[in-house]
Amino acid sequence: MAKLRHTLLEAGILPYGSEDLRLYEERLTRYFTREYQRLTKDPISLEAAGIPTDEGPMWAQTERLMDEHFDAPTEMFRAFLDPEFMAYTMAWYGETEEAVKASSLSLEQAERAKFELVAQRAGIRGDERVFDIGCGFGPLETYLFGEYPEMEITSITPSRVQTGYIRECMENPGHPLYQRRLRLIEGDFSTVPMAELGENRYDIAFAVGACEHINNLHSAMERIHALLKPGGRLFLHLIVSRPVFPQYHDSKVTLIGKFYPGGHVWPFELIEQQTEFFDLQQSWYLNGFNYWRTLEEWHRRFWEHMDELYGPVLSEAAVRHWNDYFIQCKVVLFAPGGGEVYGNGHYLFRKKAGG
Ligand SMILES: C[S@@+](CC[C@H](N)C(=O)[O-])C[C@H]1O[C@@H](n2cnc3c(N)ncnc32)[C@H](O)[C@@H]1O
Repeated sequence: MAKLRHTLLEAGILPYGSEDLRLYEERLTRYFTREYQRLTKDPISLEAAGIPTDEGPMWAQTERLMDEHFDAPTEMFRAFLDPEFMAYTMAWYGETEEAVKASSLSLEQAERAKFELVAQRAGIRGDERVFDIGCGFGPLETYLFGEYPEMEITSITPSRVQTGYIRECMENPGHPLYQRRLRLIEGDFSTVPMAELGENRYDIAFAVGACEHINNLHSAMERIHALLKPGGRLFLHLIVSRPVFPQYHDSKVTLIGKFYPGGHVWPFELIEQQTEFFDLQQSWYLNGFNYWRTLEEWHRRFWEHMDELYGPVLSEAAVRHWNDYFIQCKVVLFAPGGGEVYGNGHYLFRKKAGG
């Protein structure tokens, strides 16, 4: 492994745990902290920012997003995600930077804590009919069926790598997804016919880490509204910025767009204002250090498995790409400003009558 780390370092790829990387991350975090302080001296209001929420297709670049990100080899995701849930969003360690850093939770425990928090905030009782938009490798399903085996869940993702993984779990007698009432749809939420998704059918819809990929929020909310029974709930969990940064919205020029084609980081309060089809019940900002620590652990595990990944699974260019992804998400988004610039938002909405 030492030789491999050296080879990659020689190629300009900074290994996790190296002094070079520590200094590089520290410098960049300081730089972005200053940059965000400068940009937020004169805060921009949402109204003045004019960020579009109702233009163009609901999802803009799903095929490219799958090719370039979500359909990367399963072996790679297995190497760094927690094996219990295979969750590909922020784990929950605590309210503040200090609490997150002091937490003794493992990644697996912190992912479970995230799903407990989500279920509690969404008011889950266990008898709901659930729709999950952008289900990834099925971590929410794994958590919910583990707690409530009688639940009924319909889940959608366009990723064949993710559906392949979930189907394997559904056939594995040792897995919480085995012989459960899980209907899996492989497709794009914006194009699968409503008749297949199910109209007026669900008590609650979730989108955990999926709204970052939406282009037209208005049409997505309209479609989700149509899925739900009268009075149905919608729970969103997504990466958000606390300040309003209109200059970072166009995915052609942003970090999120580089790693997630067509992706956006929406301002926290902009999501609160999506009330044409829903009434907002409550919203919460989650400190970005939770994502920083999650990424730290993913990054560490990625390098722990580097001898299995480099060569058989990932080319040198792919190792560079994914290494840059972990580093840049940490130092550009979640570490600057003590996690109070970029973090996650939780939102609980209730379906409006009509709409
Ligand atoms: C960051 S992952 C989160 C996955 C999962 N919810 C979790 O908690 O690990 C984003 C998910 O959104 C899905 N997604 C992206 N575009 C989509 C689309 N057009 N329709 C449905 N799902 C989509 C991706 O395939 C992926 O499953």
